[in-house]
Formats: sequence, C-alpha cells, structure tokens
Amino acid sequence: MTLYRGTVLDTPDDPFTGGRLRAESDAGLVVRDGTITARGPYAVVRADHPDEDVVDLRAGVLLPGFVDTHVHLPQVRVIGALGMSLLEWLTHCALPEEVRLADPAYAGGVVTDFLAGLIDAGTTSALVFGSHFAGAVDALFEQAAGLGLRITSGLVLSDRLLPPELLTTPERAYDESARLARHWHDHGRARYAVTPRFSYSCSDEVLDACGAVVKDVPGVWMTAHVNENHAEIAQVSGLFDGRSYVETYERHGLVGRRTVLAHNVHPTDGELHVLAAHDASVAHCPTSNAALASGLFPLRRHVEHGVRVALGTDVGAGTGFSLLKEGLQAYFAQQLLLGDGFTLASTHLLHLATSAGADALGLADQVGDLSVGKQLDAVWVRPAGGTPLDIGLRHAASAEDALAKVFALGTPADIAGVWVGGDRIKPVPA
Ligand code: GUN
Ligand code: ZN
Repeated sequence: MTLYRGTVLDTPDDPFTGGRLRAESDAGLVVRDGTITARGPYAVVRADHPDEDVVDLRAGVLLPGFVDTHVHLPQVRVIGALGMSLLEWLTHCALPEEVRLADPAYAGGVVTDFLAGLIDAGTTSALVFGSHFAGAVDALFEQAAGLGLRITSGLVLSDRLLPPELLTTPERAYDESARLARHWHDHGRARYAVTPRFSYSCSDEVLDACGAVVKDVPGVWMTAHVNENHAEIAQVSGLFDGRSYVETYERHGLVGRRTVLAHNVHPTDGELHVLAAHDASVAHCPTSNAALASGLFPLRRHVEHGVRVALGTDVGAGTGFSLLKEGLQAYFAQQLLLGDGFTLASTHLLHLATSAGADALGLADQVGDLSVGKQLDAVWVRPAGGTPLDIGLRHAASAEDALAKVFALGTPADIAGVWVGGDRIKPVPA
C-alpha cells in the first residue's frame, strides 16, 4: 500500500448538471493493488495508516488521468500541417503516411512514438483510431499492454475513395475485424472497437460487415467520424441517397451505448435526437476543428439534446496529445460562438478531459475521478519553479482559478508524474 499526499482536484459530479469541482488541498489517497482504498484529509488518513510509504505530491495539483476519446495511431508523425480542409489534408498529408504502416517495422516505430505521446501528455485511457493494417493494430495492443495503458482500438475499414493500399473488401473487413476483436477485446486493459473510417469511404456492404462484427463479438465498441466538414457531409449525402450522416451508421446497427462518433460539428436536430435516443457519445475535437476550419462545435445543442460529449485530440489533424490544450480550445470555441456558445468554467474542462471521457468509454466504474474504489489513474501537474504556471498556481484565488491556470498554461512539460492502475509510467520507469 502507498499513501499519496497532495492537492487533489476531480469532478465526480457532472458540472453540466450542477456538479461542483471537488477540491481537497491536503488530501491523502491510500492505494492498494492499484485501487484507491481510502481518501480524506491527509492528517486523518495518515492517522489510520501510520506505516505506509508516503509519496509527497504537495507541489502542484493531482488530477485524474486524462481520457482521449479520439486519437489516430498512424498520424503521430504528421501533426502540425496547416492551411488545409479535411479532404485536402487527408489526401496530401494523413493518407500517404497511413499507407506506410503496411511495413511492420515502420508501424512498430509509429506505435512507440504514439504511445510515448499519450503518456507524456498524461493520457491514461484512449479510444484510438487504429490502422488499416491488422499488423499495426496488433502492435498497438501489444505495446500498450506492456505500458499498462487502457486502449480501445480497432482495424480501420474503407472500401472506396481512398488510396488503393488502404482499401479492403466487406469479407476481409469482417474476417480481420472479428479475428482482432476476438483476440483483443477484454484482453487485460485492451478493448476492441469496430472502426469504419467514415461513411464517405465505406460502402453499405462494409458498414453491414461492421454491424455483423458488433453483433457477433459481444461488448465491442464502435467508432467513426461524423458531420465534420460541409464538403464531406454533402458527398456523404450524395453517396447515400440523401440520408443523414448519422443514419448511414444507424441503419447498420452501429449507433448505441458503445458508439463514439468524432466531431459532429454540423448535426441536424434530428441527428442529435437519434444520438441521444441510442445513448451514443460524441468526441469533441476542438484543435482539429479549428486547424481544418471544420467549424465551431455546437456544444449547447448537444447538452440540450442530452448527447454525451467528451474530448478527443484527433491527432494528427489536432495539434498535439494534450487534453489541457483541447480543453482550452474547447473554451475558446464556445466563446467565439458568442450568444450560441456555452461559457465553460475550468470545472467543465476537467470534466470533459476526465470523467466525461470515462463515461463515454464505459470506464466510469474504474477511472475518471479519484474516488475510493476507482483505480489510481492520475496526473501530477507540477510546473518548474518560476514558470508562469508555477507563479499562477502559487497565486491562485481558488481551486477553480488554479484549475483554469492549468488549462490556460499547462503543457506536457508540466506533467511531472503519470500513474495508471497505481503504476507510475511517467517518468518512464528505469
Ligand atoms: N475523417 C476521416 N478520416 C479522418 C481523419 O483521419 N481525421 C479527421 N479529422 N477526419 C477524418
Ligand atoms: Zn479523426
């Protein structure tokens, strides 16, 4: 057992329905076999556990591990392209790199870079858009297991309008997905997600194969893109006889509680209604939406329709692995929507980066906050002395103010420790 001492901030109660930030300035967390077994004022917890080793984290703040609900494995090496819209960026930047993952040695290197990026940024759970190549998906799950990360991922599927190397057939899509899903789903911390890339690149036959895998392998997840960009949406409508984008998935049994659709920047009210009725989730990817000029996410409409929303970095259209940056950009986007926006407080940002993600991924019984009974998945934000964030934290007017400074100023360089299931994974163990 270990006793962690520090300032703990988390969001066990949803701030979109009135929950407040839980802030304890000198808290003690007792952790046994990765699970938090006691929590309270340090002096009280210490009195009950006088013999435990103490990890002193009083400088800075301790947050739940971040949950990234949409991030692309093959795009770690192409982060940072500017000046393109979605279909241009896919053609000129993302897809040529994704073709390179056909080579297992190249794919292995990309997986290593990718997982290092997640850990460095404090991400402990992620729904990862995998690769079009099964070997790269195996490599992702294998390396993630070695590091302890909670990864949900799958084979990306497309059978039209992409470079030929990335295309499959409905039969292969079913066979390879089912094989990977049966092997990896609920294998340790791994889970499988059936992953049609987007309806633009998927025929009804491939989407049908996806629906069959979802039916045949109990408990698997489903992820795809939806309603990201006006040109893309118009093309999808043309390819599917004017059906709505959400309907292209829904009619194949692909919209349910274990569905996470990325972006949804331009939904109709009807589509929001369908997502809410099926209890599906949306991954909001604010830096990507800005970088590709996709648009400003209608958060208020999602909240009003009761659609679950969490954050995704969307690396590599998104500009990095940091969910602190995504939180800040989510705040900016809502401010720019003026009267139609939802002014987010720092508590909302922490919720979106942690407990909302855990909920979207069906992991809320294990992670997302630092309550007794949850796993110790945690991020220690401890900036170097004299940096603006260090100064800001030392002069914060309240816990909410300190948290706002973490989102405004924090970067992966300020994350001094990351734990998953009680094991410290940053700094990288010797
Ligand atoms: N739509 C289909 N593929 C992609 C992708 O790789 N990134 C983004 N942002 N949107 C997509
Ligand atoms: Zn994406």
